[in-house]
Amino acid sequence: MINKIDETRKSFDEDLSKVDSFASLEELRIKYLSRKGLVSQLFESLKDVSKEDKPKVGQSLNQLKIHTQSKFDEMKETFENNENKSESFVDLSLPGRIRPIGSKHILTQTLDEIKNIFKGLGFSVYEGPELESDYNNFEALNFAPDHPARDMQDTFFVTEDFLLRTHTSPVQVRLMTEKKPPLRAIMPGKVFRNEAISAKSYCLFHQVEGLYVDTDVTFAELKGTLVAFAKQFYGQDVQYRFRASFFPFTEPSAEMDVWWQPKGKEGRWLEVLGCGMVDPNVLKNVGIDPEKYVGYAFGMGVERTAMLKYGIGDIRILFDNDKRFLTQF
Ligand code: DAH
Repeated sequence: MINKIDETRKSFDEDLSKVDSFASLEELRIKYLSRKGLVSQLFESLKDVSKEDKPKVGQSLNQLKIHTQSKFDEMKETFENNENKSESFVDLSLPGRIRPIGSKHILTQTLDEIKNIFKGLGFSVYEGPELESDYNNFEALNFAPDHPARDMQDTFFVTEDFLLRTHTSPVQVRLMTEKKPPLRAIMPGKVFRNEAISAKSYCLFHQVEGLYVDTDVTFAELKGTLVAFAKQFYGQDVQYRFRASFFPFTEPSAEMDVWWQPKGKEGRWLEVLGCGMVDPNVLKNVGIDPEKYVGYAFGMGVERTAMLKYGIGDIRILFDNDKRFLTQF
């Protein structure tokens, strides 16, 4: 009798594991738990068990009954829950779910725009590494080892001879070393400076360098190119001016300012780029004959340019990844 009880329990468990619908659950109920089901039949045969075995067999039978009934109830509840859920889930009147599509960061958009304008002016695009040698970043550009101009830029040194480039000008050195003139290219990329972070300066930003080397390049052409760029980028009525300046790698050197007029506030001149005629010493350093070739170069900050164009007051917001800011563009 005890064996039979065990067998019934086992076959119940097995049948239960196969239940996959209300119909098969009902079949299970009829087979085991109905009035004529297997469990009732076992109770029926309890009367044939000897007196001394009855308590033990009775106890096993009760356990079987509890087991089968509770497992059945559990399964029924699961089925009912699922059914309720799937009924309330399908609400055909709900609007579809919107999956937001990403967009280009405002800096990438600005860089793309700058690149496209210069491509239209006949420049190709050339890139160099962010980890640069001290030689390319400073020395070849006419910054002597103890040149005070090195203090203009606070450098992240990686070793004594290698650093995170502080400007994109070393890409000029790479381009002029690798290729022969005539050369006309812009060189965009990230630059790094060990400066205190504030609304105006960040440890990382982007620059676009420009270089044109040929036998008959003039300062007037440099100016014409930069003005053409400014008109396309900022608008035909942009107000600009050139000021004399100093960079070790250009002679003469200048800076270009653009008039910034925030709404309802006082306007002012903002420096947007540095430029000049490539210093003959730089040409010599890269093996180009300065008697035969001349060049002009320029370098502009992308963040600066974007901030000016879109009226952004704090550079840090460009690196915060705040969706409320980013989705405006
Ligand atoms: N490298 C300069 C800087 O980071 C910018 C610059 C000035 C680049 C004059 C040039 C140039 O190519 O001719 O401040």
